[in-house]
Amino acid sequence: MKKIKQYIINRNEFFYPSSTKVQQAIKKFPSQKISHYINGYYQSPLANKIAQKFSVPSKQVLIFYGLEDFFRNLFKSLNNQKSSVLVNQYHFAYFSSYLKHLKIKLYQSKMVAKSDSFYFDIVDLLKKYSQYKPSIVLLSSPNNPTANVLPLNDLKKVLNTVSQNTLVILDEAYFGFDPEYQAKQYINLLKKYPNLILVRTFSKFYGLAGLRIGYGLAGKKALSIINYQAYYLNFSQILESVAIAALESDNYYKKIAKKIIKDRNNLISEIKQLKNFHAFTSKTNFISVRVNLKILNQLQKSLDKQNFKVAMFFNKNMMRVSITVPKYNKRFLNILKKIDKDNK
Ligand SMILES: Cc1ncc(COP(=O)(O)O)c(C=O)c1O
Repeated sequence: MKKIKQYIINRNEFFYPSSTKVQQAIKKFPSQKISHYINGYYQSPLANKIAQKFSVPSKQVLIFYGLEDFFRNLFKSLNNQKSSVLVNQYHFAYFSSYLKHLKIKLYQSKMVAKSDSFYFDIVDLLKKYSQYKPSIVLLSSPNNPTANVLPLNDLKKVLNTVSQNTLVILDEAYFGFDPEYQAKQYINLLKKYPNLILVRTFSKFYGLAGLRIGYGLAGKKALSIINYQAYYLNFSQILESVAIAALESDNYYKKIAKKIIKDRNNLISEIKQLKNFHAFTSKTNFISVRVNLKILNQLQKSLDKQNFKVAMFFNKNMMRVSITVPKYNKRFLNILKKIDKDNK
């Protein structure tokens, strides 16, 4: 039977091989380590490595089994009678689905679509903050699914407004795909704003989604608000080794990110030539495209026929598409071009 190839471009994954060092860390992980706990308790070579990389004290580095693990534990620790979360509109779907499951109130601040890009509406965010006094302000930058960033000055406005008892989370899952992003400027905020926590994942830039590794850089107050404790019997040793190998392969991953950024910008420019689609600026490894409602059915049928799976959002007139490798990006673009030609 002929094998059907599916183009799963709806999960913002990584479509390149891992670095040689990462592959070696997996293949050559010493089997004797499997049967023993790491020496001591609450130990994390990965936390130490991250602390060193970003010049942050290692007790302010948190390690998780992916960001889902961080959010799951954090949300579960909230009191559903008293706590609430303020999050930007159009966010990672897990936030609202899990908070709803726990019956925790979720407020949303507006995200505005202009012709070139989406923008965080900070005036609305600050208004909702003073109205609802949430226990957590959760912002993602770059944001999924809208692909835009929260400017540093806007983040500072939020931090200057909220009470120090409010935990401010900046989810930076998509770091590494914005050439203008300066990690240092964000990390420096941790000293001035101890209620801030920056969280990141190895799933996107480092392409390790299947392994589930994430980390946080936390201000001192944030640490006490979330009451984080490192793992008593330590984090998975194999995951730590692979994550350390990934950090030591930064140059390789930067090169891949550069390719992804170039392909992403080319794809956006090509889509901008079409009449029935509108691509927004992206600072991530995916793009957001508005679709003319009239061709939505035809688009869905063509995507299905050619085994492309994309994510649809808003009232299904927006699609979120991963940037993969040039061959697949082109195949996807050709689907859009063909539909556009039929609907001049
Ligand atoms: C904004 C955002 N945060 C967190 C995650 C989950 O990250 P992880 O793979 O580390 O659980 C995603 C996954 O797509 C995401 O889009």
